[in-house]
Order: sequence, then structure tokens, then C-alpha cells
Amino acid sequence: MIDARRINAAAAPSAFDDSFARCISDGLRCTPKEIACKYFYDAEGSALFDAICALPEYYQTRTEVALLRRHADEIATLIGADAEIVEFGAGALRKVRILLDALESPRGYTPIDISGAYLRDVVRRLAADYPKMALRPLVADFTLPLHIPILPDAAMRRTGFFPGSTIGNFRPDAAMALLRRMREALNGGGLLVGADLVKDPALLHAAYNDAAGVTAAFNKNLLARANRELGADFDLDAFAHYAPYNPKAQRIEMYLVSLKRQSVRLSDGVVEFAAGEAVHTEDSHKYSIESFREIAARAGFSPRAVWCDEARLFSLHWLEAR
Ligand code: AVJ
Repeated sequence: MIDARRINAAAAPSAFDDSFARCISDGLRCTPKEIACKYFYDAEGSALFDAICALPEYYQTRTEVALLRRHADEIATLIGADAEIVEFGAGALRKVRILLDALESPRGYTPIDISGAYLRDVVRRLAADYPKMALRPLVADFTLPLHIPILPDAAMRRTGFFPGSTIGNFRPDAAMALLRRMREALNGGGLLVGADLVKDPALLHAAYNDAAGVTAAFNKNLLARANRELGADFDLDAFAHYAPYNPKAQRIEMYLVSLKRQSVRLSDGVVEFAAGEAVHTEDSHKYSIESFREIAARAGFSPRAVWCDEARLFSLHWLEAR
């Protein structure tokens, strides 16, 4: 039995209910067209992302999970006892369990995620397994400037957890600014953050162009979501998933490319696509260990321990506030 009062679900999703609509109607009317990647994660998109994490080509999740397992005790010592963990972009809550199991008497856990229905669902399951810990899920968009949600005790020192290389979705300057805001929200606590590394572009390309087509379905979910929620009439077969690696900018770029000249109906009018016209949907930046530590330092952190696998696919960084 779960005590519902122990899980105080905060923030109604209404704060960003209409912003997907605005992103679609504005983003598809500017040149070049774009849709912000945070809108991938409705319930369907979050489930598709979980499927990506299990793909043979997608090395990130299993590599990071192995790093967390291998170094859990050392990480727990650095974090210390009675910790308050705040996770940014919490997703399936699988990784945090490794951390919670290694920590000495963790006091509280605040998963922040943009996908309300999905978050409520996974938190319910986590609550059953950690009956003594205070759980305060927050349905919120942690990327909004100055809007990392104020948590119940504003002066409390917290430990941030930001795995999965979500930081890679931001341009380096925006990544630095986001890390800075996280540092401020943590009130002097440290941040454990995962960053994907530069590597053989063939490996990167395969990870975002999987043989089973799950990443393509994840990308096209933006259009499917617009059909579901906004009454748009996108023909998913008339768009191609395209995800090349840009070695100069050191990032994967994701696009949906219109396969023909077409008009698509949105809730507030029609949008025209030329044949071959691209909608930019995501950037996924790759770092060297040094370049990531540099950004963390510019954000006011002292980069301390860093863990990485033998093949140097992925890195996990322990940052302390300066
Ligand atoms: C969740 C942002 C880390 O960039 O690898 C996976 C999202 N996009 N496949 C990434 C994603 C396509 C993922 N992050």
C-alpha cells in the first residue's frame, strides 16, 4: 500500500500545456523550421526513448549504468549520508535506484520531469520500493531560464543527479548556463552528471540510426504527437528521419525531412513544406573529458572525480560547487 500523502505531486502541468502547440505553430513557420527536443517526451515518446536505451547500437545507457554500478560506493561516499537528491529530467528512474541503494540513509528524492503522466507512473513504483524516503516528484521544465522550480525548503543543500547526457542537447554556452542555474538551485551541493564522449563517428552514427528504426519512430513521434494533441494531419510516411554527425560542431543533428512538397494542416492554419525541406529536432553534443570539465568550471563548479569506461564511450563527472 502506498501512502498517497507521502508523494506530494507538485505543479499542475497546465504551466506548459499550450507550449507544444506554440512550438509547433511558431517553429514550423520560421526558417529553418524547428521543433524543440523536449517535446519528444510525452508518454509515447518516453516509452520510445526507453526502447532506444535498450538498443544494441545505443551504447550510452548500458555504459553509464555499468559506471554507476562499478563506482556506486565511491560515489556514495562523495555524496555523503542523509542526502537530498534532485534529478533533472528523471525519465524511467532506473539509474537513480543504483544511487539510492548505495547511499547511506538518503533522506529525500525529487525527480523533475516534463512528462507528468509518465512521472506519476514511475514514481508510484519507486515509492513502493523506498518506503522510508520522502518523494517529491515535480512536473516541470527544468530548461526554462530562471525556472528551476523552487523546492519546499529553499535553503536546503541538495545533490543534483543529471545522467544520460541530457546536457548534450544544449549548445555549449547554454549547457554552461544550465549548469550554473543547477548549481544555484542546489545551494552548495554537488552534481553528478553524465556526458557522452567524442568517438568514432561510425559508432555515433549507428547509435542514432538504429537498424530497428526505433530512433526514427522517436523522432517522428513529434509529428504523431501533433496529430494526437493538436489535430494536425501529418503523414508520417511523407517525412524521413535523418541524423548525421557534424564533426566540426561535435554533435549529432536530428532532422525530419519532407519527402515531397506538401501542405500540412495545424490547429491554426496550414504549413507548407518544400520537397527536401528539413525540420531540425535535436542536437546531441559530444565532449572530451577535458572540454566538459572546462564548461563545468565556467559554471562555477570544481570538477572533481571523473569515471569513464575502458573504451572511452561515456563519462560521469562529480562536480562540487565552488
Ligand atoms: C536523452 C538527450 C541523451 O541525445 O542521445 C536518443 C536523446 N535522441 N536518440 C541523446 C536521443 C536520439 C538522447 N538524450
